[in-house]
Amino acid sequence: MRSALLLSAALPSVLGATTYSMVKEYSGSGFFDDWNFYGNFDNLTNGDAIFVTSSVASSSKLAYVDSATNRAIIKVDNTSTVAFNDKRNTVRISSKDEFTVGSLWIFDMYHVPFGCSVWPAAWSQAPNWPTGGEIDTFEVYNLATHNQMTLHTEPGCKQVNPVQTSTVVNSTDCSFQDNSNAGCSVMDTSPATDGAAFAAAEGGVYVTEYAESGISVWFFGRPNVPSSLASNASSFSTNDLGTPVANWPTGGCSMDTFFKPQNLIFDITLCGDAAGDPAIFNQTCSGNCYLDYVVGNGSAYDNAYFDVASVRVYSANGTNTVKETNGAGAAAAMSMPLWWIGALAGLLLYV
Ligand SMILES: *[C@@H]1O[C@H](CO)[C@@H](O)[C@H](O)[C@H]1NC(C)=O
Ligand SMILES: *[C@@H]1O[C@H](CO)[C@@H](O)[C@H](O)[C@H]1NC(C)=O
Ligand SMILES: *[C@@H]1O[C@H](CO)[C@@H](O)[C@H](O)[C@H]1NC(C)=O
Ligand SMILES: *[C@@H]1O[C@H](CO)[C@@H](O)[C@H](O)[C@H]1NC(C)=O
Ligand SMILES: *[C@@H]1O[C@H](CO)[C@@H](O)[C@H](O)[C@H]1NC(C)=O
Ligand SMILES: *[C@@H]1O[C@H](CO)[C@@H](O)[C@H](O)[C@H]1NC(C)=O
Ligand SMILES: *[C@@H]1O[C@H](CO)[C@@H](O)[C@H](O)[C@H]1NC(C)=O
Repeated sequence: MRSALLLSAALPSVLGATTYSMVKEYSGSGFFDDWNFYGNFDNLTNGDAIFVTSSVASSSKLAYVDSATNRAIIKVDNTSTVAFNDKRNTVRISSKDEFTVGSLWIFDMYHVPFGCSVWPAAWSQAPNWPTGGEIDTFEVYNLATHNQMTLHTEPGCKQVNPVQTSTVVNSTDCSFQDNSNAGCSVMDTSPATDGAAFAAAEGGVYVTEYAESGISVWFFGRPNVPSSLASNASSFSTNDLGTPVANWPTGGCSMDTFFKPQNLIFDITLCGDAAGDPAIFNQTCSGNCYLDYVVGNGSAYDNAYFDVASVRVYSANGTNTVKETNGAGAAAAMSMPLWWIGALAGLLLYV
């Protein structure tokens, strides 16, 4: 979807602020039209999960538009009994289009997945990861209650002098080679960014800006969504957003060097390199990630779903940042958060 307003070029800009105009919207009955389904078991993060094809996702209702709400549901199978040595069905979708620097995207969600063994993310990456980088807007493990925002890149990108509201910076080196590929990660300390609290508050919106000046993430709980976003305005200014919760200025991480056009991705895996790492798993859950949750009747997954009102992509200052590629290359892209920790711990878990 292209916004007609984009062509008008009548985009007044406050000094230093960027005016963004909508260039693409995923919503309503057509939500799933412009995504590729992974269609393979999780060979990216070693989860005990099968990312189903589009047809299986549709027939088994793991990806569908809820007719009552007109919102997209992306979920883990909670109706099948999984036998020992098998994996559980779930979903990973990647946008067919890529979005270049000068883009901003908004995930408007009412529910995000949570539960022991559940590892969801709403994020983006370039097709040839780690070249071109990865931006994790929303990511949590198991029953963690705070969203974690992270960049993963080639060596040389660091978070330096951020202007952000979060006071919890977990790590500042974004290199996939540093610190077991933990990335440069910032935790959102505000309440209801995730889990049951997020759902109880009717969710909210995550805004990700990928600009020449750097990368920023904002979170707004439902009552605090800026009016220009809540009203589906076709354009708005970054002045409306205030200070981001997380920020990675280009000074410490040259956008032109470390980032390339991004595919947007939603996925939910189970256990795997991070959520299934015993030292992470036992922070919020007990027992064995695979045996006590993935195996069995699936009752552990009643909350393992995204409920997405829309994904909207905007372009800066009258440009068009949509790169139509049909997702070529995206299916082969790989990301292995914490792969080294996983390599140390994974043999015990991986079936
Ligand atoms: C948009 O224009 C403003 C004002 O000229 C500028 O400060 C800002 O960097 C531009 N944003 C982008 C993403 O190009
Ligand atoms: C980030 O640090 C906070 C505060 O120490 C901690 O609670 C959280 O688990 C850390 N996140 C990760 C992914 O390690
Ligand atoms: C939002 O606005 C665009 C036009 O700018 C329109 O195509 C779209 O249907 C609207 N979405 C909703 C959910 O109202
Ligand atoms: C969690 O696992 C780590 C590493 O395996 C271990 O050192 C720690 O004692 C465990 N904590 C709990 C609460 O079981
Ligand atoms: C599903 O399995 C759980 C855990 O084993 C059990 O507590 C629950 O009663 C089972 N539910 C059904 C409907 O069989
Ligand atoms: C599966 O989870 C959904 C909510 O995501 C719930 O409505 C449904 O009852 C669950 N199915 C079973 C068989 O428990
Ligand atoms: C994952 O499996 C797909 C399909 O077989 C394959 O194309 C891709 O190269 C594999 N990726 C990795 C990292 O093994």
